[in-house]
Amino acid sequence: MYNLLKGKRGIIFGALDSNSIAWKVAERAHEEGATFVLTNAPIAMRMGAINKLAEQTNSTVIPADATSMEDLQNLVDKSVEILGGKIDFVLHSIGMSMNVRKGKHYTDSNYDFTHKGFDISALSFHRVMNVLYNSNAMNDWGSIVALSYMAAQRVFPDYNDMADNKAYLESVARSFGYFFGQQNKVRVNTISQSPTPTTAGNGVKGFDGFIAYAEKMSPLGNATALECADYTISLFSDLTKKVTLQNLFHDGGFSNMGVSNPIMENFMSNFENERKEE
Ligand code: NAI
Repeated sequence: MYNLLKGKRGIIFGALDSNSIAWKVAERAHEEGATFVLTNAPIAMRMGAINKLAEQTNSTVIPADATSMEDLQNLVDKSVEILGGKIDFVLHSIGMSMNVRKGKHYTDSNYDFTHKGFDISALSFHRVMNVLYNSNAMNDWGSIVALSYMAAQRVFPDYNDMADNKAYLESVARSFGYFFGQQNKVRVNTISQSPTPTTAGNGVKGFDGFIAYAEKMSPLGNATALECADYTISLFSDLTKKVTLQNLFHDGGFSNMGVSNPIMENFMSNFENERKEE
C-alpha cells in the first residue's frame, strides 16, 4: 500500500455485493488511507451487504436514489458534514437497463424502460455533478470517475440501450468536466472497463461468451474488478492531476485489436469443420 489517498475524503456509489467494482474500489481506497461515505439506492440496501463493507472500511452508509435530486443533495450535504470537509473524490458506478432486464430487444424497445434506464445509468452522472458543483462541495484538484463500456463506440448487439447510455455518460464527463476544471481544477474522467462478472455484467445476454471472447482477444487478458479499482485509485490520487475529459480504456488492449491469433485459430477450426460437413 502506498498511502495514495491519505487524508482524502470521498463518496462511492454502487457497491452492491463483493463482486461489485465499487466494492473493490472502497476496499482499495480504505487501504490507501481515504475516508469515505458509501451510497446506493435504498432498494439495494435491503440486501444488507453494504453494511458489512461499511464496517470493514470504517465508513458511513447514506442511501440515495441517483435519480432523485433531493436524495443526492442530502447525500452530499451529509457527506461533507460526516467526513469533516469538502470531497476529494467521487466514484459513479451505477448501471441498469430495464430493457435488458425485461428481455426487450433493442429494435423493439419499451420507451418507458428506456427512460428509466437512461435516468439511472446516464443522467444520474450529470445529476451527481450538478449537486456537487452547485453546492461547491468538491475540493480543488479533486477527481470524479464514472465507469463505462466500449459499446459506447462500437457495436455489441446484446448490450442493448446501455450502449447509448454509456455514450451519453462519456459525453457528460467531457461537458461537465470543462466547467468543473474551470471552477475547481476538478478532473472528470470515465474508465472503459473490460467485461467483469458482477450483477450488472451477468445481466447482459450471452455474458459468458462475451467475457471469454474479450479474454482471447486482449493481449493482456481481461481486466478484473480489482485491477479496475487499482486504476481508479490512481485517478483519485495526486499522481494524475492533469488527466481530465478522458475516456480511459482499461481492457487489456481489447479496444485497439482487430483480431488475435487465438480468436482466428478458433474461427478457422470451426470453419474447417463446416467445410467438411458440406
Ligand atoms: P453492480 O451490479 O455490482 O453495480 C451496479 C450498481 O448500480 C448497483 O450497486 C446498484 O444498486 C446501483 N444502482 C442501480 N440503480 C440505482 C439507483 N437508482 N441509484 C443508485 N444506484 C443504483 O455491477 P458493476 O459491474 O460493478 O457495475 C458498476 C458500473 O460498471 C456500471 O456503470 C456498469 O455499467 C459499469 N461496467 C460494468 C462492466 C461489467 O462487465 N460488469 C463493464 C464495464 C462497465
